[in-house]
Amino acid sequence: MNSASAKILLIDDEPGMREVLSAVLGRAGHRVVVAESGEQGIALIGAEIFDLVITDLKMPGPYNGMDVLKTAKDISPETLVIILTAFATLDMAIEAMKLGAYDVLTKPFNNDHVELTVRKALDAKRLSAENLLLKRELKERAGFENIIAISQAMQEVFALVRRVAQTDSTVLICGESGTGKELVARAIHFNSPRRDQAFVTVNCAALPETLLESELFGHMKGAFTGAVANKEGLFEVADGGTLFLDEIGEASPAIQVKLLRIQVKLLRVIQEREFRRVGGTRDVSVNVRILAATNKDLDKAVAQGLFREDLFYRLQVIPITLPSLRSRPEDIPALVHHFLKIFSRKREKPLTLEPDAMVELQQQEWKGNVRELENVMLRAVALVSGPTISRADLEPWLRPPSLIHSGVSSEIPPEGLDLEHLINGLERGFLVKALERARGVKKDAAHLLKLNGRSFRYRLEKYGIGRGSGGEERSADDEEGDE
Ligand SMILES: Nc1ncnc2c1ncn2[C@@H]1O[C@H](COP(=O)(O)OP(=O)(O)OP(=O)(O)O)[C@@H](O)[C@H]1O
Ligand SMILES: [Mg+2]
Repeated sequence: MNSASAKILLIDDEPGMREVLSAVLGRAGHRVVVAESGEQGIALIGAEIFDLVITDLKMPGPYNGMDVLKTAKDISPETLVIILTAFATLDMAIEAMKLGAYDVLTKPFNNDHVELTVRKALDAKRLSAENLLLKRELKERAGFENIIAISQAMQEVFALVRRVAQTDSTVLICGESGTGKELVARAIHFNSPRRDQAFVTVNCAALPETLLESELFGHMKGAFTGAVANKEGLFEVADGGTLFLDEIGEASPAIQVKLLRIQVKLLRVIQEREFRRVGGTRDVSVNVRILAATNKDLDKAVAQGLFREDLFYRLQVIPITLPSLRSRPEDIPALVHHFLKIFSRKREKPLTLEPDAMVELQQQEWKGNVRELENVMLRAVALVSGPTISRADLEPWLRPPSLIHSGVSSEIPPEGLDLEHLINGLERGFLVKALERARGVKKDAAHLLKLNGRSFRYRLEKYGIGRGSGGEERSADDEEGDE
């Protein structure tokens, strides 16, 4: 909703009142729908969603303003209701407020007062809607429970994240694109003692040098052309909270050079936790916790003289490295279920994935890591109409079949190959095929592959087969096998 232009239902049996109020509200930029009786008004509330209902209290016919209020709160709780009355008694006003009315206005009223009340109501509504959204988003995004970590590697990351959240240490989060660096940064902040203060993000790759510098440190009036007023830097904005320097190693070559120049200031901020505004004389002390992230190999950048070594060490007081998704296929089933749950929230039941589709997903290379998987799931959920997603449903978004599917070739392609990945893929494929052939009876499947029960189960566990993806596992054979 836009509080400058809202959809308002006006209910009053007096034509004159309807005319005046529609004119006043129309002039203020709102869209006004009118009704002549409580009955008509209630029908409209059932048919459309209004930001605000303004209703007269006493009207002829079976329904009065209180009935309108009750109905509105019943079927459209977000809609605000203002009651108009010539006979306001305290009791009635209290009753109306109890039932959830936003305000009670007594006739006669002056137009400005009505307009002001409406504006205040709409502002309050917008704010509470925004807050609700924000809170929901923050909660959804920042809770530890939203970081999926099944694999050993991710469990270790998770444990570290929990621990550093309690401290003020500077953390450098490294990892390929889409591995969850920002998710981790948010989780650290929102689970730290600073959680109620600001979490400020600045993308070092996205801004030209002068802007980045003044964004970070602020500037005094006249410090450079265009600096027309004193401006608070993000370090000040983040005072008491956390500043997330995203993509600190991602800057373009030109910007990297300029970044190097402000790093002296960054160093001082980080070392002494205080800094001087560009063009200013007064030192401004701030208490800011710094988190930084990069998908670049900063070690290498340092070795090449592209990133200051001293800054690098100060940033990575605690380094957290997020593993690529392809190195932890065990996480894929849980991630898939996590995304399916989120994306099919509007459905009655979350979508599920057919087992061979899951296998396919676990064999992908996921160059874009978790974000790529997230996108594939999002598209699948949007397009699939039935209750499950099949392998064929996913096909269009997956990368072309690799060596794994075309059978083993002893050729090494010119660009080389990822032996471990290849072998893992093959192994996983055979495990699933054996399970299929054995109709889910693990003992038989193990036998087909000439594996003993324990080593078969170990491998199932390793690839997360039969956990979460459902279907390919039967429990009848859970008795100890042949080891
Ligand atoms: N372990 C995880 N559990 C649940 N969701 C995850 C996990 N890791 C990443 N995601 C989700 O994947 C998406 C990408 O994560 P994020 O934006 O944090 O990655 P990034 O490393 O910052 O990527 P980039 O380098 O491209 O900026 C987000 O929607 C995030 O919520
Ligand atoms: Mg990011």
